[in-house]
Amino acid sequence: MYQRREITTQEKLQQEQYCQRVRARIAHRPHYAMVDTYGCQQNESDSEILRGWLVQCGYTLTEDEDKADLIAVNTCAVREHAEKRVLGNVGALAHKKAKNPELIVCVGGCMTQQATVRERIRKSYQVVDLVFGPHEVWQFPELVWKTMERRGGRGSKRRLIAAEPSEGVVAEGLPRARDNDVKAWLTIMNGCDNFCSYCIVPYVRGRERSRRPADILAEARQLVEAGYKDITLLGQNVNSYGKGLEEDIDFPDLLAALDKIPGDYVLRFMTSHPKDATEKLFRVMADSEHCAHHIHLPLQSGSDRILKEMNRCYDRAKYLEKVAAARAAMPDLVLTTDIIVGFPGETEADFNDTLSLVNEVRYDAMFTFIFSPRPGTPAAAMPDPVTRAEKQVWFDALLDAANRISAEKHAAYVGSTYRVLVDGQTGQTPYNLSARTKGGRLVHLAGDPALVGTFAQAKITDSTTWALYGELV
Ligand code: SAH
Ligand code: SF4
Ligand code: F3S
Repeated sequence: MYQRREITTQEKLQQEQYCQRVRARIAHRPHYAMVDTYGCQQNESDSEILRGWLVQCGYTLTEDEDKADLIAVNTCAVREHAEKRVLGNVGALAHKKAKNPELIVCVGGCMTQQATVRERIRKSYQVVDLVFGPHEVWQFPELVWKTMERRGGRGSKRRLIAAEPSEGVVAEGLPRARDNDVKAWLTIMNGCDNFCSYCIVPYVRGRERSRRPADILAEARQLVEAGYKDITLLGQNVNSYGKGLEEDIDFPDLLAALDKIPGDYVLRFMTSHPKDATEKLFRVMADSEHCAHHIHLPLQSGSDRILKEMNRCYDRAKYLEKVAAARAAMPDLVLTTDIIVGFPGETEADFNDTLSLVNEVRYDAMFTFIFSPRPGTPAAAMPDPVTRAEKQVWFDALLDAANRISAEKHAAYVGSTYRVLVDGQTGQTPYNLSARTKGGRLVHLAGDPALVGTFAQAKITDSTTWALYGELV
Protein backbone atom coordinates (compact mmCIF):
# COMPACT_ATOMS: atom_id res chain seq x y z
CA MET A 1 0.00 0.00 0.00
CA TYR A 2 1.35 3.42 -0.96
CA GLN A 3 2.41 5.65 1.89
CA ARG A 4 3.08 9.34 1.50
CA ARG A 5 6.38 10.01 3.26
CA GLU A 6 7.94 13.42 3.81
CA ILE A 7 11.71 13.48 4.13
CA THR A 8 12.64 14.63 7.64
CA THR A 9 14.98 17.47 8.59
CA GLN A 10 17.28 14.86 10.09
CA GLU A 11 17.47 12.98 6.79
CA LYS A 12 18.25 16.20 4.94
CA LEU A 13 20.99 17.06 7.45
CA GLN A 14 22.51 13.68 6.80
CA GLN A 15 22.67 14.46 3.10
CA GLU A 16 24.38 17.75 3.89
CA GLN A 17 26.94 15.80 5.88
CA TYR A 18 27.56 13.59 2.84
CA CYS A 19 28.09 16.81 0.84
CA GLN A 20 30.81 17.81 3.34
CA ARG A 21 32.50 14.44 2.93
CA VAL A 22 32.50 14.61 -0.85
CA ARG A 23 33.69 18.21 -0.68
CA ALA A 24 36.66 17.24 1.51
CA ARG A 25 37.52 14.36 -0.79
CA ILE A 26 37.69 16.49 -3.94
CA ALA A 27 39.20 19.58 -2.31
CA HIS A 28 42.76 18.92 -3.56
CA ARG A 29 41.92 20.31 -7.03
CA PRO A 30 38.93 21.88 -8.82
CA HIS A 31 36.38 19.24 -9.82
CA TYR A 32 33.76 19.73 -12.54
CA ALA A 33 30.32 18.13 -12.89
CA MET A 34 27.83 17.99 -15.70
CA VAL A 35 24.15 16.98 -15.75
CA ASP A 36 22.65 15.90 -19.06
CA THR A 37 18.83 15.91 -19.15
CA TYR A 38 16.37 14.01 -21.35
CA GLY A 39 12.57 13.97 -21.21
CA CYS A 40 10.02 16.31 -19.73
CA GLN A 41 10.05 19.38 -17.48
CA GLN A 42 9.83 17.16 -14.41
CA ASN A 43 13.25 15.83 -15.33
CA GLU A 44 14.55 19.35 -15.97
CA SER A 45 13.36 20.23 -12.52
CA ASP A 46 15.02 17.16 -10.95
CA SER A 47 18.24 18.01 -12.77
CA GLU A 48 18.23 21.42 -11.10
CA ILE A 49 18.22 19.62 -7.75
CA LEU A 50 21.04 17.29 -8.87
CA ARG A 51 23.06 20.37 -9.85
CA GLY A 52 22.19 22.04 -6.56
CA TRP A 53 23.55 19.04 -4.66
CA LEU A 54 26.68 18.86 -6.83
CA VAL A 55 27.46 22.51 -6.10
CA GLN A 56 27.01 21.82 -2.41
CA CYS A 57 29.38 18.85 -2.80
CA GLY A 58 32.07 21.24 -4.04
CA TYR A 59 31.81 20.69 -7.78
CA THR A 60 31.87 23.49 -10.35
CA LEU A 61 29.17 23.00 -13.00
CA THR A 62 30.24 22.63 -16.61
CA GLU A 63 28.64 21.88 -19.97
CA ASP A 64 31.89 20.48 -21.32
CA GLU A 65 32.00 16.67 -21.22
CA ASP A 66 35.77 16.64 -21.68
CA LYS A 67 36.28 18.72 -18.57
CA ALA A 68 33.86 16.82 -16.34
CA ASP A 69 34.95 14.65 -13.39
CA LEU A 70 31.35 13.58 -12.82
CA ILE A 71 28.64 13.18 -15.45
CA ALA A 72 25.04 12.51 -14.42
CA VAL A 73 22.60 11.52 -17.16
CA ASN A 74 18.95 12.07 -16.23
CA THR A 75 16.98 9.72 -18.48
CA CYS A 76 13.46 9.46 -19.95
CA ALA A 77 11.55 6.24 -20.62
CA VAL A 78 8.44 7.56 -22.33
CA ARG A 79 9.32 6.29 -25.83
CA GLU A 80 11.79 3.73 -27.11
CA HIS A 81 13.56 6.30 -29.23
CA ALA A 82 14.46 8.34 -26.14
CA GLU A 83 15.82 5.23 -24.39
CA LYS A 84 17.99 4.22 -27.35
CA ARG A 85 19.45 7.69 -27.64
CA VAL A 86 20.37 7.76 -23.94
CA LEU A 87 22.03 4.33 -23.98
CA GLY A 88 23.99 5.27 -27.12
CA ASN A 89 25.30 8.40 -25.43
CA VAL A 90 26.08 6.59 -22.17
CA GLY A 91 28.01 3.91 -24.10
CA ALA A 92 30.03 6.64 -25.82
CA LEU A 93 31.24 7.88 -22.42
CA ALA A 94 33.61 4.87 -22.34
CA HIS A 95 36.03 6.96 -24.45
CA LYS A 96 35.98 9.75 -21.90
CA LYS A 97 36.64 7.30 -19.12
CA ALA A 98 39.58 5.81 -20.98
CA LYS A 99 41.09 9.32 -20.96
CA ASN A 100 40.07 10.14 -17.40
CA PRO A 101 39.80 6.97 -15.28
CA GLU A 102 38.61 9.05 -12.32
CA LEU A 103 35.47 10.10 -14.19
CA ILE A 104 32.29 9.12 -12.30
CA VAL A 105 29.36 8.24 -14.58
CA CYS A 106 25.89 8.34 -12.98
CA VAL A 107 22.66 7.33 -14.71
CA GLY A 108 19.40 8.46 -13.09
CA GLY A 109 15.85 9.23 -14.12
CA CYS A 110 12.85 7.28 -15.32
CA MET A 111 14.67 4.61 -17.37
CA THR A 112 16.53 3.27 -14.35
CA GLN A 113 13.31 2.63 -12.47
CA GLN A 114 12.72 -0.34 -14.79
CA ALA A 115 14.42 -3.53 -13.57
CA THR A 116 15.20 -4.64 -17.14
CA VAL A 117 17.10 -1.42 -17.82
CA ARG A 118 19.06 -1.70 -14.57
CA GLU A 119 20.05 -5.23 -15.56
CA ARG A 120 21.14 -4.07 -19.01
CA ILE A 121 23.29 -1.33 -17.53
CA ARG A 122 24.77 -3.74 -14.99
CA LYS A 123 25.70 -6.25 -17.71
CA SER A 124 26.52 -4.18 -20.76
CA TYR A 125 27.46 -0.67 -19.60
CA GLN A 126 30.49 -1.14 -17.38
CA VAL A 127 31.24 2.55 -17.82
CA VAL A 128 28.37 3.38 -15.42
CA ASP A 129 29.42 3.72 -11.76
CA LEU A 130 26.11 4.73 -10.20
CA VAL A 131 22.50 4.00 -11.13
CA PHE A 132 19.82 5.84 -9.17
CA GLY A 133 16.09 6.39 -9.65
CA PRO A 134 13.83 9.45 -9.64
CA HIS A 135 12.82 8.69 -6.03
CA GLU A 136 16.42 9.07 -4.90
CA VAL A 137 17.23 12.55 -6.14
CA TRP A 138 16.90 13.80 -2.55
CA GLN A 139 19.72 11.48 -1.44
CA PHE A 140 22.10 12.01 -4.33
CA PRO A 141 25.05 13.19 -2.13
CA GLU A 142 24.94 9.92 -0.18
CA LEU A 143 24.90 7.90 -3.40
CA VAL A 144 27.82 9.88 -4.86
CA TRP A 145 29.80 9.39 -1.65
CA LYS A 146 29.10 5.65 -1.57
CA THR A 147 30.06 5.37 -5.23
CA MET A 148 33.37 7.07 -4.46
CA GLU A 149 33.93 4.63 -1.60
CA ARG A 150 33.31 1.64 -3.85
CA ARG A 151 35.62 2.60 -6.64
CA GLY A 152 38.52 0.78 -5.05
CA GLY A 153 36.39 -2.41 -4.91
CA ARG A 154 36.24 -5.27 -7.37
CA GLY A 155 33.56 -6.94 -9.49
CA SER A 156 29.96 -6.13 -8.57
CA LYS A 157 31.12 -4.18 -5.49
CA ARG A 158 32.82 -1.65 -7.72
CA ARG A 159 29.54 -0.01 -8.74
CA LEU A 160 26.34 1.10 -7.03
CA ILE A 161 23.08 0.09 -8.68
CA ALA A 162 20.32 1.75 -6.63
CA ALA A 163 16.82 2.89 -7.85
CA GLU A 164 14.54 1.91 -4.99
CA PRO A 165 10.78 1.69 -5.58
CA SER A 166 10.11 4.20 -2.73
CA GLU A 167 7.01 5.54 -4.39
CA GLY A 168 5.64 8.12 -2.01
CA VAL A 169 8.55 10.39 -1.17
CA VAL A 170 8.00 14.14 -0.86
CA ALA A 171 11.18 16.14 -0.18
CA GLU A 172 11.14 19.85 0.66
CA GLY A 173 13.94 22.39 0.91
CA LEU A 174 16.51 20.66 -1.29
CA PRO A 175 19.19 22.86 -2.88
CA ARG A 176 18.54 23.77 -6.47
CA ALA A 177 20.81 25.31 -9.12
CA ARG A 178 18.25 26.89 -11.44
CA ASP A 179 19.01 26.89 -15.17
CA ASN A 180 17.53 30.25 -15.96
CA ASP A 181 17.18 33.65 -14.24
CA VAL A 182 13.87 34.57 -15.85
CA LYS A 183 11.85 31.34 -16.02
CA ALA A 184 11.42 28.86 -13.19
CA TRP A 185 9.90 25.40 -12.79
CA LEU A 186 7.82 24.86 -9.69
CA THR A 187 6.90 21.23 -9.07
CA ILE A 188 3.56 21.01 -7.27
CA MET A 189 3.17 17.23 -7.35
CA ASN A 190 4.96 14.07 -8.38
CA GLY A 191 3.90 10.76 -9.89
CA CYS A 192 0.74 9.76 -11.71
CA ASP A 193 -2.23 7.52 -10.88
CA ASN A 194 -3.95 7.57 -14.26
CA PHE A 195 -2.40 4.51 -15.88
CA CYS A 196 -3.19 5.44 -19.47
CA SER A 197 -2.68 2.06 -21.13
CA TYR A 198 0.30 3.14 -23.29
CA CYS A 199 2.21 5.08 -20.65
CA ILE A 200 5.21 4.09 -18.53
CA VAL A 201 5.15 7.19 -16.30
CA PRO A 202 2.98 5.78 -13.45
CA TYR A 203 5.33 2.77 -13.20
CA VAL A 204 8.53 4.78 -13.06
CA ARG A 205 7.40 7.93 -11.23
CA GLY A 206 5.27 6.20 -8.62
CA ARG A 207 1.98 7.22 -7.06
CA GLU A 208 0.62 10.71 -7.28
CA ARG A 209 1.51 12.90 -4.31
CA SER A 210 1.02 16.63 -3.87
CA ARG A 211 3.28 19.07 -2.08
CA ARG A 212 1.67 21.03 0.72
CA PRO A 213 0.16 24.35 -0.43
CA ALA A 214 2.16 26.32 2.17
CA ASP A 215 5.44 24.94 0.77
CA ILE A 216 4.42 25.74 -2.81
CA LEU A 217 3.30 29.27 -1.88
CA ALA A 218 6.53 29.93 0.00
CA GLU A 219 8.62 28.77 -2.96
CA ALA A 220 6.56 30.88 -5.39
CA ARG A 221 6.97 33.96 -3.19
CA GLN A 222 10.73 33.43 -3.09
CA LEU A 223 10.83 33.10 -6.88
CA VAL A 224 8.89 36.33 -7.42
CA GLU A 225 11.05 38.15 -4.87
CA ALA A 226 14.20 36.83 -6.58
CA GLY A 227 12.97 38.42 -9.82
CA TYR A 228 11.68 35.41 -11.75
CA LYS A 229 9.08 36.53 -14.26
CA ASP A 230 7.70 33.27 -15.60
CA ILE A 231 6.75 30.43 -13.25
CA THR A 232 5.54 27.08 -14.58
CA LEU A 233 3.74 24.79 -12.14
CA LEU A 234 4.60 21.17 -12.90
CA GLY A 235 2.78 17.89 -12.45
CA GLN A 236 1.84 14.95 -14.70
CA ASN A 237 -1.76 15.89 -14.08
CA VAL A 238 -2.00 19.18 -12.21
CA ASN A 239 -5.81 18.97 -12.27
CA SER A 240 -5.78 16.27 -9.62
CA TYR A 241 -3.62 18.35 -7.28
CA GLY A 242 -4.59 18.08 -3.61
CA LYS A 243 -5.69 14.45 -3.43
CA GLY A 244 -4.40 12.87 -0.22
CA LEU A 245 -3.51 16.18 1.48
CA GLU A 246 -4.92 17.12 4.89
CA GLU A 247 -5.81 20.54 3.47
CA ASP A 248 -9.08 20.77 1.55
CA ILE A 249 -7.70 22.27 -1.66
CA ASP A 250 -7.89 21.60 -5.40
CA PHE A 251 -5.83 22.92 -8.31
CA PRO A 252 -8.00 25.98 -9.08
CA ASP A 253 -7.82 26.93 -5.37
CA LEU A 254 -4.02 26.64 -5.47
CA LEU A 255 -3.85 28.71 -8.65
CA ALA A 256 -6.05 31.41 -7.13
CA ALA A 257 -3.87 31.51 -4.00
CA LEU A 258 -0.67 31.79 -6.06
CA ASP A 259 -2.22 34.53 -8.19
CA LYS A 260 -2.51 36.72 -5.08
CA ILE A 261 1.28 36.95 -4.71
CA PRO A 262 1.99 40.55 -5.71
CA GLY A 263 4.37 41.32 -8.58
CA ASP A 264 4.71 41.42 -12.35
CA TYR A 265 5.06 37.80 -13.47
CA VAL A 266 3.29 35.10 -15.51
CA LEU A 267 1.98 31.83 -14.04
CA ARG A 268 1.78 28.75 -16.27
CA PHE A 269 1.09 25.09 -15.61
CA MET A 270 1.41 21.70 -17.23
CA THR A 271 -0.03 19.18 -17.81
CA SER A 272 -3.82 19.19 -17.59
CA HIS A 273 -5.65 15.90 -18.03
CA PRO A 274 -8.92 16.66 -19.88
CA LYS A 275 -10.94 14.32 -17.66
CA ASP A 276 -10.61 16.68 -14.71
CA ALA A 277 -10.16 20.08 -16.31
CA THR A 278 -13.16 21.88 -14.82
CA GLU A 279 -15.18 25.04 -15.40
CA LYS A 280 -13.87 26.18 -12.03
CA LEU A 281 -10.33 26.00 -13.43
CA PHE A 282 -11.27 27.99 -16.53
CA ARG A 283 -13.01 30.62 -14.39
CA VAL A 284 -10.02 31.02 -12.06
CA MET A 285 -7.70 31.34 -15.07
CA ALA A 286 -9.96 33.93 -16.69
CA ASP A 287 -10.23 35.99 -13.50
CA SER A 288 -6.59 35.80 -12.50
CA GLU A 289 -4.09 38.60 -12.91
CA HIS A 290 -1.01 36.46 -13.59
CA CYS A 291 -2.19 33.22 -15.16
CA ALA A 292 -1.40 32.71 -18.85
CA HIS A 293 -4.44 32.01 -20.97
CA HIS A 294 -2.84 28.82 -22.22
CA ILE A 295 -3.87 25.22 -21.66
CA HIS A 296 -1.93 22.20 -22.81
CA LEU A 297 -4.78 19.71 -23.03
CA PRO A 298 -3.50 16.38 -24.40
CA LEU A 299 -6.10 14.79 -26.67
CA GLN A 300 -4.13 11.61 -27.57
CA SER A 301 -6.88 10.47 -29.98
CA GLY A 302 -10.11 11.76 -31.48
CA SER A 303 -11.66 8.27 -31.69
CA ASP A 304 -13.98 7.19 -28.88
CA ARG A 305 -12.99 3.56 -29.31
CA ILE A 306 -9.25 4.31 -29.06
CA LEU A 307 -9.74 6.72 -26.14
CA LYS A 308 -11.44 3.90 -24.29
CA GLU A 309 -8.61 1.49 -25.07
CA MET A 310 -6.17 4.15 -23.88
CA ASN A 311 -8.03 4.42 -20.57
CA ARG A 312 -8.31 8.20 -20.94
CA CYS A 313 -11.72 8.44 -19.20
CA TYR A 314 -13.25 10.98 -21.63
CA ASP A 315 -14.72 10.76 -25.09
CA ARG A 316 -14.64 13.05 -28.08
CA ALA A 317 -17.84 14.89 -27.12
CA LYS A 318 -16.65 15.48 -23.55
CA TYR A 319 -13.30 16.79 -24.79
CA LEU A 320 -14.98 19.19 -27.21
CA GLU A 321 -17.27 20.39 -24.42
CA LYS A 322 -14.24 21.25 -22.27
CA VAL A 323 -12.60 23.13 -25.12
CA ALA A 324 -15.78 25.10 -25.72
CA ALA A 325 -16.10 25.95 -22.02
CA ALA A 326 -12.44 27.03 -21.80
CA ARG A 327 -12.79 29.23 -24.88
CA ALA A 328 -16.03 30.73 -23.61
CA ALA A 329 -14.24 31.75 -20.40
CA MET A 330 -11.11 32.95 -22.25
CA PRO A 331 -11.71 34.03 -25.86
CA ASP A 332 -7.94 34.62 -26.27
CA LEU A 333 -7.06 31.09 -25.08
CA VAL A 334 -3.98 29.43 -26.59
CA LEU A 335 -4.59 25.70 -26.84
CA THR A 336 -1.92 23.04 -27.38
CA THR A 337 -2.05 19.26 -27.31
CA ASP A 338 -0.31 15.87 -27.55
CA ILE A 339 -1.48 13.17 -29.95
CA ILE A 340 -0.43 9.54 -30.38
CA VAL A 341 -0.70 8.05 -33.88
CA GLY A 342 -0.87 4.30 -34.44
CA PHE A 343 -2.10 3.07 -31.07
CA PRO A 344 -2.55 -0.76 -31.27
CA GLY A 345 -5.64 -1.60 -33.32
CA GLU A 346 -6.13 1.96 -34.58
CA THR A 347 -7.80 1.94 -38.01
CA GLU A 348 -7.87 4.54 -40.73
CA ALA A 349 -11.38 5.50 -39.58
CA ASP A 350 -10.06 6.07 -36.01
CA PHE A 351 -7.22 8.15 -37.38
CA ASN A 352 -9.66 10.21 -39.46
CA ASP A 353 -11.59 10.94 -36.25
CA THR A 354 -8.40 12.41 -34.81
CA LEU A 355 -7.73 14.44 -37.93
CA SER A 356 -11.27 15.83 -38.03
CA LEU A 357 -11.11 16.82 -34.37
CA VAL A 358 -7.81 18.61 -34.97
CA ASN A 359 -9.35 20.51 -37.87
CA GLU A 360 -12.33 21.41 -35.70
CA VAL A 361 -10.41 22.55 -32.59
CA ARG A 362 -7.51 24.20 -34.44
CA TYR A 363 -4.68 23.96 -31.93
CA ASP A 364 -2.06 26.68 -31.72
CA ALA A 365 0.59 23.94 -31.53
CA MET A 366 0.61 20.15 -31.39
CA PHE A 367 3.12 17.53 -30.23
CA THR A 368 2.62 14.35 -32.22
CA PHE A 369 4.11 10.93 -31.51
CA ILE A 370 4.00 7.51 -33.16
CA PHE A 371 2.94 4.88 -30.59
CA SER A 372 5.94 3.25 -28.93
CA PRO A 373 5.26 0.02 -27.02
CA ARG A 374 6.54 0.31 -23.44
CA PRO A 375 7.24 -3.07 -21.85
CA GLY A 376 4.96 -3.74 -18.89
CA THR A 377 2.13 -1.42 -20.03
CA PRO A 378 -1.19 -2.96 -21.17
CA ALA A 379 -0.93 -1.44 -24.66
CA ALA A 380 2.41 -3.14 -25.29
CA ALA A 381 0.60 -6.49 -25.15
CA MET A 382 -2.24 -5.49 -27.52
CA PRO A 383 -2.28 -6.77 -31.13
CA ASP A 384 -0.79 -4.09 -33.38
CA PRO A 385 -1.32 -5.12 -37.01
CA VAL A 386 -0.74 -1.76 -38.73
CA THR A 387 2.76 -1.44 -40.21
CA ARG A 388 5.16 1.31 -39.26
CA ALA A 389 5.03 2.59 -42.87
CA GLU A 390 1.23 2.98 -42.70
CA LYS A 391 1.48 4.75 -39.35
CA GLN A 392 4.06 7.08 -40.86
CA VAL A 393 1.59 8.07 -43.61
CA TRP A 394 -1.00 8.99 -40.96
CA PHE A 395 1.61 10.76 -38.89
CA ASP A 396 2.72 12.86 -41.87
CA ALA A 397 -0.89 13.79 -42.66
CA LEU A 398 -1.45 14.88 -39.06
CA LEU A 399 1.76 16.89 -39.00
CA ASP A 400 0.75 18.64 -42.23
CA ALA A 401 -2.58 19.63 -40.68
CA ALA A 402 -0.88 20.74 -37.45
CA ASN A 403 1.66 22.88 -39.30
CA ARG A 404 -0.94 24.44 -41.59
CA ILE A 405 -3.15 25.40 -38.63
CA SER A 406 -0.23 26.74 -36.54
CA ALA A 407 0.90 28.88 -39.49
CA GLU A 408 -2.65 30.25 -39.93
CA LYS A 409 -2.99 30.97 -36.21
CA HIS A 410 0.38 32.72 -36.13
CA ALA A 411 -0.46 34.80 -39.21
CA ALA A 412 -3.43 36.23 -37.32
CA TYR A 413 -1.02 37.90 -34.84
CA VAL A 414 0.61 40.01 -37.57
CA GLY A 415 -0.16 43.72 -37.28
CA SER A 416 -1.14 43.64 -33.59
CA THR A 417 0.89 44.63 -30.55
CA TYR A 418 1.34 42.30 -27.55
CA ARG A 419 2.94 42.53 -24.14
CA VAL A 420 5.76 39.98 -24.15
CA LEU A 421 8.36 38.74 -21.70
CA VAL A 422 11.86 38.93 -23.18
CA ASP A 423 13.34 35.67 -21.94
CA GLY A 424 16.65 35.13 -23.68
CA GLN A 425 19.15 35.75 -26.44
CA THR A 426 19.08 33.73 -29.65
CA GLY A 427 22.69 34.29 -30.75
CA GLN A 428 21.34 35.26 -34.18
CA THR A 429 20.95 38.47 -36.17
CA PRO A 430 18.92 40.53 -36.66
CA TYR A 431 16.46 38.81 -34.30
CA ASN A 432 18.81 38.52 -31.32
CA LEU A 433 16.14 38.27 -28.59
CA SER A 434 13.50 35.67 -27.84
CA ALA A 435 10.29 36.52 -26.04
CA ARG A 436 6.95 34.93 -25.17
CA THR A 437 3.44 36.28 -25.39
CA LYS A 438 1.37 35.69 -22.26
CA GLY A 439 -0.21 32.75 -24.08
CA GLY A 440 3.26 31.30 -24.54
CA ARG A 441 3.87 31.90 -28.28
CA LEU A 442 7.50 32.45 -29.25
CA VAL A 443 8.39 35.92 -30.58
CA HIS A 444 11.75 36.85 -32.13
CA LEU A 445 12.81 40.46 -31.66
CA ALA A 446 15.79 42.75 -32.31
CA GLY A 447 16.88 44.79 -29.31
CA ASP A 448 19.18 45.50 -26.40
CA PRO A 449 20.21 42.31 -24.53
CA ALA A 450 19.66 44.26 -21.31
CA LEU A 451 15.93 43.78 -21.96
CA VAL A 452 16.17 40.07 -21.06
CA GLY A 453 14.05 39.52 -17.96
CA THR A 454 11.73 42.47 -18.64
CA PHE A 455 8.30 42.87 -20.19
CA ALA A 456 8.06 44.84 -23.43
CA GLN A 457 5.52 45.78 -26.09
CA ALA A 458 6.10 44.05 -29.40
CA LYS A 459 4.36 44.74 -32.70
CA ILE A 460 4.17 41.50 -34.68
CA THR A 461 5.43 42.03 -38.22
CA ASP A 462 5.84 38.50 -39.58
CA SER A 463 5.13 34.87 -38.71
CA THR A 464 5.97 31.26 -39.58
CA THR A 465 4.62 27.87 -38.48
CA TRP A 466 6.91 27.93 -35.45
CA ALA A 467 7.25 31.53 -34.35
CA LEU A 468 6.29 35.18 -34.56
CA TYR A 469 8.65 38.03 -35.52
CA GLY A 470 8.21 41.53 -34.21
CA GLU A 471 9.62 44.92 -33.37
CA LEU A 472 9.77 46.66 -30.02
CA VAL A 473 7.40 49.61 -29.76
N1 SAH B 1 1.15 13.57 -18.11
C1 SAH B 1 1.07 14.05 -19.39
C2 SAH B 1 1.90 13.37 -20.45
C3 SAH B 1 3.26 12.88 -20.13
S1 SAH B 1 4.02 12.00 -21.44
C4 SAH B 1 -0.37 13.90 -19.81
O1 SAH B 1 -1.07 13.05 -19.39
O2 SAH B 1 -0.76 14.65 -20.66
C5 SAH B 1 3.95 13.17 -22.77
C6 SAH B 1 3.29 12.65 -23.99
O3 SAH B 1 4.01 11.55 -24.53
C7 SAH B 1 1.90 12.09 -23.80
O4 SAH B 1 0.93 13.09 -23.74
C8 SAH B 1 1.72 11.20 -24.99
O5 SAH B 1 1.19 11.90 -26.09
C9 SAH B 1 3.15 10.76 -25.31
N2 SAH B 1 3.35 9.36 -24.96
C10 SAH B 1 3.29 8.78 -23.75
N3 SAH B 1 3.50 7.45 -23.84
C11 SAH B 1 3.70 7.18 -25.14
C12 SAH B 1 3.96 5.99 -25.89
N4 SAH B 1 4.04 4.81 -25.29
N5 SAH B 1 4.12 6.09 -27.23
C13 SAH B 1 4.02 7.29 -27.86
N6 SAH B 1 3.77 8.44 -27.21
C14 SAH B 1 3.61 8.40 -25.87
FE1 SF4 C 1 1.00 8.99 -18.65
FE2 SF4 C 1 -1.62 9.27 -18.65
FE3 SF4 C 1 -0.25 9.78 -16.43
FE4 SF4 C 1 -0.06 11.41 -18.50
S1 SF4 C 1 -1.91 11.03 -17.30
S2 SF4 C 1 1.63 10.63 -17.28
S3 SF4 C 1 -0.20 10.04 -20.25
S4 SF4 C 1 -0.48 7.80 -17.40
FE1 F3S D 1 10.11 10.91 -19.57
FE2 F3S D 1 9.96 10.45 -17.00
FE3 F3S D 1 9.13 12.73 -17.98
S1 F3S D 1 9.49 9.00 -18.60
S2 F3S D 1 8.43 12.22 -20.03
S3 F3S D 1 11.19 12.02 -18.01
S4 F3S D 1 8.25 11.64 -16.27
